[in-house]
Amino acid sequence: ISTRAFATSSARAVINNVTVIGGGLMGSGIAQVAAQNGNHVTLLEVNPELLQKAQTNIATNLTRVAKKLYKDDPNAAQQFVEDAKKRIQGTTKAEESVGDADLVVEAIVENMEIKHKLFKTLDEAAPQKTLFASNTSSLSIGEIASVVKRKDKFGGLHFFNPVPVMKLLEVVRIPEQSEETYQAFMAWGKSIGKSCVTCKDTPGFIVNRLLVPYIAEAIRMLERGDASAKDIDTAMKLGAGYPMGPIELADYVGHDTTNSILQGWQKKFPGNPLFVPCESTKKLVQEKKLGVKSGEGYYKYNK
Ligand code: NAI
Repeated sequence: ISTRAFATSSARAVINNVTVIGGGLMGSGIAQVAAQNGNHVTLLEVNPELLQKAQTNIATNLTRVAKKLYKDDPNAAQQFVEDAKKRIQGTTKAEESVGDADLVVEAIVENMEIKHKLFKTLDEAAPQKTLFASNTSSLSIGEIASVVKRKDKFGGLHFFNPVPVMKLLEVVRIPEQSEETYQAFMAWGKSIGKSCVTCKDTPGFIVNRLLVPYIAEAIRMLERGDASAKDIDTAMKLGAGYPMGPIELADYVGHDTTNSILQGWQKKFPGNPLFVPCESTKKLVQEKKLGVKSGEGYYKYNK
C-alpha cells in the first residue's frame, strides 16, 4: 500500500508556470520569490501604472537579495537579477494571465465579492490542469472556492510579510481538495524555499488565530489599566522569550489590519469573546493612528 501511495504522490503535477494576481505588498513578494526559484511568473495588475510599480519594487528587492547572495561577485549578482526579471512577465488582462498556468496565487484586496468575481473569470479562462490558491489572511478558503468548478484544485497558500524574508507558508486544505493538489502545494512551497505547515480552513489558520487574540488580550489588559504598555511588552519579551512585545507587535502589524480581522471574525462568530475588537484600537483607527506605518499607535515613532 505504501509503495502505491508513493507512486501516486510522485506522479503529482509539477509547477513551473505561476500566475500571481495582484502586485501589491504580498503579490510582488510572491512573484519575486517564485521567479528567484526558477518559476516562470505572470503578474496580473489592474492597470499599467500599478503593474509598472510592482515590477519596479520587485527589481529593487531582487537587487537587495542579489547583493546578499553574491557579496563578492557583482557580475553574478547582476546575472541573478537579470535572470529572475526575465522570468516575470506582466499583464493587465485576467483571461490571458492564466493561459498556461500550473498554479494561480491570488493576492488581491481582502474582499469576498471581488475575489469571487476574479475566480469566476479565471475558472472559465484557465486550463483544466491549473491549481488555484488564495493568499487571504482572514476570509474562508471554502467560501472563496464556492464559485469555481475545480474545488478539488483549490486551497489556501498563506504567506507572511515580507514574503522574501519570512520562511513560513501555511497550506490550507478544504474538504474538496484532492490529495494530489495538496501534495503539489506542499512541493511547490518547499521548492521556493518555504517551510510548509498544514491546517484546515479555520479562521486565521494557525498563526493569526493565535496571534490576533493574543494581541487583543494584551490591549484589553492595557485598557483595564492592569499594566503599562511598556511593562506588558517587557514582560512578554523577558518572561516568555518573545522577540517583540504584544503592544509593539500590534503597532507593527497595523491597527487597521487587526481591527478589520477581528470585526470580520466577530460578525461570523458572534459568541466568541476572543474575537471582540478592542475599543482603544477602534479609536486609534478613527484617528488614523495605525501604528509604525503612520508614525503613531500605542507608541510614538519618528517617521
Ligand atoms: P495590497 O493592497 O498591497 O495589494 C493588492 C493589490 O491587488 C493592489 O495592487 C491592487 O491593485 C491589486 N488588485 C486588486 N484587485 C485586482 C484584480 N481584480 N486583479 C488584479 N489585481 C488586483 O494588499 P496586500 O497586503 O498585498 O494583501 C493582498 C492579500 O494578501 C489579501 O487577501 C490579504 O489578506 C493577504 N495577506 C496580506 C498580508 C499582509 O501582511 N499585508 C499577509 C498575508 C496575506
